[in-house]
Amino acid sequence: MKRVRICSVSDVPAGGMKGYDTDLGVRVLVVNSGECFHAYQGLCPHQDVCLDEGYFDGSTLTCHQHLWQWDVATGEPMGAAEAPLERYDIEERDGEIYVLQTSALKACELFKGVADATLARLDAIAVREEHDSLATVYDMGDPADDLYILESGRVEFVIGREDRTSLAGFMLRKGEMFGWAALLEEQPRRIARAVCMEKSMLLRFSGKAMLDALAAEPAAGFLVMRQLSALITKQLWSQGGQ
Ligand code: FES
Repeated sequence: MKRVRICSVSDVPAGGMKGYDTDLGVRVLVVNSGECFHAYQGLCPHQDVCLDEGYFDGSTLTCHQHLWQWDVATGEPMGAAEAPLERYDIEERDGEIYVLQTSALKACELFKGVADATLARLDAIAVREEHDSLATVYDMGDPADDLYILESGRVEFVIGREDRTSLAGFMLRKGEMFGWAALLEEQPRRIARAVCMEKSMLLRFSGKAMLDALAAEPAAGFLVMRQLSALITKQLWSQGGQ
């Protein structure tokens, strides 16, 4: 687990909030409710506006651009808001506020129930990649060799064919996996474009290396494949494509 200092406790007065560009590679919003501190993604999930330029009344955070709102205690959307805020675990120590960064593998639904030792072995075969805002991770027709887990930032998908494309209608958040075609046979090419909507950190896994690692631990492999089939079904229902 990585601990990243964000600011001092005294930097954010009760009832206030401030945004920070951090060593995590993402902007983080620190909010002081008067009872405790919370940390969330610093950019609005709607259109990348800095949330610290919005309004905070002690319990509700409002983006000034189109007035999406969130419950500051949970990050859950309120009213017209269509997406929650990504929440960061924090620690206060000696008057400083730190964000605690755990591996996205731990947060990934695909690996729910998998033993920590197995997760550590999988983490060892991952490559961490940082992508700038608007960077294309892969495009339609590219080889489907790798799968990805989002560690921070946001990724959005475009589906369709050449001149007739459209947004898939969902964005990913921390711990969500994409590019799962790399784990399937006879799915050699991408059928969607994956684009980072802000600076994003990704865990990239070779599909072959992942399959080899899971084959070496059949119980974990069976669990992961069951969960993969459930995730594919869920994403197909939401009109996505990988
Ligand atoms: S940019 Fe924040 S609500 Fe639209």
